[in-house]
Amino acid sequence: MKKITTILGARPQFIKAAAVSRALAAQPGLQETLIHTGQHYDAAMSDIFFEEMEIPRPDHHLAVGGGSHGAMTGEQLKRIEAILLEDRPDCVLVYGDTNSTLAGALAAAKLHIPVAHVEAGLRSFNRRMPEEVNRVLTDHMSDLLFAPTESACRQLQNEGIAGSGVHLSGDVMMDAALFYRDRARCPDWFADLDVERGNFLLCTIHRAENTDSPERLRAIFRGLARSHRPVVLPLHPRTRKTLERLQLEAAPSIHLVDPVGYLEMAWLEMHCAAVVTDSGGVQKEAFFHGKPCITLRDETEWTELVELGVNTLVGADPERIAHHINQPAAPVPVTAVYGDGQAAQFIASVLAEA
Ligand code: UD1
Ligand code: UDP
Repeated sequence: MKKITTILGARPQFIKAAAVSRALAAQPGLQETLIHTGQHYDAAMSDIFFEEMEIPRPDHHLAVGGGSHGAMTGEQLKRIEAILLEDRPDCVLVYGDTNSTLAGALAAAKLHIPVAHVEAGLRSFNRRMPEEVNRVLTDHMSDLLFAPTESACRQLQNEGIAGSGVHLSGDVMMDAALFYRDRARCPDWFADLDVERGNFLLCTIHRAENTDSPERLRAIFRGLARSHRPVVLPLHPRTRKTLERLQLEAAPSIHLVDPVGYLEMAWLEMHCAAVVTDSGGVQKEAFFHGKPCITLRDETEWTELVELGVNTLVGADPERIAHHINQPAAPVPVTAVYGDGQAAQFIASVLAEA
């Protein structure tokens, strides 16, 4: 039996793990252990996903959330190492680009335990993003690299990472979107909002470059206030804290709600007119559900969507935001840019053979 230890800790990793853990459980010869770093800890940012997506309960919970990058990553590194020394898995599996990803990959690499990275090869080419540092370092420490797209594979090659460890797997978030779409659920509070199905903007904001800059955050809210449609905005706790600190009041047409679970988020993505976001995952989910996306960033890792003309980068410029959110929202044709929903199964079979 091959022992795989998965490290996760932040919301997007629970969604990716929901797809992959199911495939690992179905793959003969593999046994998975889960370490939750505790990076995200509110029930609406963590527990809800384990419950409604039926992710196996973590075997270890490290409760290392909050604090500076160094303090968080360092403490996670120390505690993950202690568990790996005890468990001695055959492979450590990490997802995406958070501090939990870097801590997990580094702990394993130093113990000479092979690292498998899901969502390898993504780049924004903006080293000021904490995620960019995390993903570059993780890729360069990994033995198995699962790239969601051909451009991600090419990027790895450009950085001298090539050979039998690199696999074009497709995107496990596509797997999750297809698997859970029939279970999508209208949030209870939706009927109480003065919002018509199909005629609202779904917005999320949490990226450090937007929430750490009062100017950018204020500018984004000025742009959103000019929307002709109501805006539904499930608020990441980081953004809620910043809005409170800045005493920044959203316009009445912007409905601030608590973060929602994946099934409610999928419903909102399926029933909105368009998505406005600075999230990585939500940009892709807009596409999976056939919705145009307006991205509140200056660059994106998911360049295919920009090239297809279904994702528009508007940064934090209120004029550009107001212009693009008020365009007619034509449905987007869904193509197999991110694979066919079998990425997790492919990853499990490679892990079993490695
Ligand atoms: C992290 C990831 C980011 C990812 C995002 C997904 C890093 C560097 N960043 O950003 O790549 O896109 O998760 O959502 O790893 N907080 C709470 N409750 C929680 C979680 C966070 O109150 O359950 C607050 C805390 O004040 C915390 C702050 O949010 O200090 C930021 O959390 P953190 O995990 O450091 O970064 P995110 O912005 O969530
Ligand atoms: N998401 C969710 N509830 C929310 C906001 C986002 O379930 O209130 C899901 C979303 O559907 C996607 C994932 O969280 O699957 C994206 O995570 P996030 O935006 O936090 O991080 P990123 O993808 O930018 O790293």
